[in-house]
Amino acid sequence: MVSYKELGLVNTREMFAKAIKGGYAIPAFNFNNMEQLQAIIKAAAETKSPVILQVSKGARNYANQTLLRYMAQGAVEYAKELGWEKPQIVLHLDHGDSFELCKSCVDFGFSSVMIDASSLPYEENIALTKKVVEYAHKYDVTVEAELGVLAGVEDEVSSAVSHYTKPEEVVDFATRSGCDSLAISIGTSHGAYKFTPEQCTRDPKTGKLVPPPLAFDVLDAVMEQLPGFPIVLHGSSSVPQEYVDMINSLGGKLPDAIGIPEEQLRKAAKSAVCKINIDSDSRLAFTAAVRKVLTEKPGEFDPRKYCGVARDFMEDLYKHKIIDVLGSDGKA
Ligand code: G3H
Ligand code: 13P
Ligand code: ZN
Repeated sequence: MVSYKELGLVNTREMFAKAIKGGYAIPAFNFNNMEQLQAIIKAAAETKSPVILQVSKGARNYANQTLLRYMAQGAVEYAKELGWEKPQIVLHLDHGDSFELCKSCVDFGFSSVMIDASSLPYEENIALTKKVVEYAHKYDVTVEAELGVLAGVEDEVSSAVSHYTKPEEVVDFATRSGCDSLAISIGTSHGAYKFTPEQCTRDPKTGKLVPPPLAFDVLDAVMEQLPGFPIVLHGSSSVPQEYVDMINSLGGKLPDAIGIPEEQLRKAAKSAVCKINIDSDSRLAFTAAVRKVLTEKPGEFDPRKYCGVARDFMEDLYKHKIIDVLGSDGKA
């Protein structure tokens, strides 16, 4: 048993309370490799933003859970080396799908876990979430739950349609499960294709696709039911068109990739939404950089040359999210 406190990590409790009061959101960035982690920590340290490092099932399969945890431990020391005296870093399990997995993360030094039982029937979602909460709280680890189902693929949890969270269920769910934060479904989804072109309108001036707005009425109703309760938004990449265009113009094929407009995320960040999950944008930044370097320098074969540029692209992206979208700079 390793406590996250010994690793210099923090849980989300205080961080979320401050974010709700202050009208900003904490960035939750997924990481799978060293370059991503370096870019996240540099961006957070330089902007003095609290940050949540997320480990998904895909990341565990790709990079190994043990290695990722030690990398997060190293990240705390790296942040200090960068001059961030008291780093506010959370190590979070993203989309945990069983009690056993959540328990293993708690035992291994994670400071926060998500139990995603949103695809189960309501009562089963409550029961499983409650079981995780009872275990995690013994070690002061915070627990995120999910109610409502996002469209698209949630790791192995999948659903073809989006089922918005039912505001009339949230009080019962939060009270009986004891969760510390709640991920809700208001029209976001995972990946770089959040809306089909048919769901969008076209801006007559630019010809670009404009996605439908998020269901802020559902968010408002949830907040009315659960005043001051921490709300989480998954699937919140904005799919920056500059990266999509760069990738497409350099031999890639991402037709009609579309995300959540940043002004909508800015609006959400000012509400009780205090954790905003971003993964796909970082993948796009990485891929755009690699394509650029390898196109400009076809003879390059040192991975540090293109992964280094990818790291710079991601750092810029993370800083932009922190400063211009979530407003979490200067809060740690
Ligand atoms: O929730 C989805 C995240 O973007 C993680 O995806 O399992 O492919 O790493 P992944
Ligand atoms: P995106 O695919 O929009 O980046 O969402 C990531 C996410 O929700 C991770 O849990
Ligand atoms: Zn997610």
